[in-house]
Amino acid sequence: MLPHSPHNDTTEDPPEGRIDIHCHLLPSIDDGCLDYNESFECVDRLVAAGFIGSICTPHFYPEQRGCPTIDHVRNLTAQLEQAIHEHGATYRVWPGGELRIYDGIIDWLKDNQPPTLANSKCVLVDFWVHKWAPWINAVFEWLLAQGYQPIFAHPERLACTNVLDKQLTKLTQMGVWLQGNFRCMTGEDGYEPDIWVRRLIAEDRYRFMALDAHRPNSLESRLDGMQLVDMEFGQEKLDRFTIDAPRKYILANRSQAI
Ligand SMILES: [Fe+2]
Repeated sequence: MLPHSPHNDTTEDPPEGRIDIHCHLLPSIDDGCLDYNESFECVDRLVAAGFIGSICTPHFYPEQRGCPTIDHVRNLTAQLEQAIHEHGATYRVWPGGELRIYDGIIDWLKDNQPPTLANSKCVLVDFWVHKWAPWINAVFEWLLAQGYQPIFAHPERLACTNVLDKQLTKLTQMGVWLQGNFRCMTGEDGYEPDIWVRRLIAEDRYRFMALDAHRPNSLESRLDGMQLVDMEFGQEKLDRFTIDAPRKYILANRSQAI
């Protein structure tokens, strides 16, 4: 039973505005916000920046103890939405997760459902490797074969830049979608991500870009990155990443039951 939320009808159409599909606003579950006060501070700033909601994507590390469950995240998300409402802000939050994939995760996936974004079929995935390995493509293939829609989070941050172009082409040809991080635009994530994020935007290879907001202290630089996308690539592209794509590719494909 979900706690009362002002928006327990999760299929209700959201109001106009930007939607962040990747964030760590749920308090005390990962390296994101520590408590409700930090969540509220982020939400107030996001509202001022034109956002009307976020998909909460806490880290799911199946290899580690304490990996959250989907039900736990759904409950925390409904509680956060209610708390935001009582705080006096109008802001939507939807449940999700950021699934860390690794060599062997298919065995885990056979027994466990992956977290999906806002009850759609989209699965936000991250991983970190210095060398590309065959298991990466195999995991994406497995998810696609099961009917999930994998979204590869912040590929521009991967270290194996010598094969990145070729491998991202392969993944997108398979049907994987890419999500870039705004903050990479600022250079704060390093020189290579700064180069790659611009290249992938210019070549129209991202379906989404997101803030990947964690705590209030890093939110400003993430919003700076969003402004840079606006300045360098134009508002039409920014709106496509944050207004149109979240609705068209995720929220429009939610199932009724939650
Ligand atoms: Fe994240």
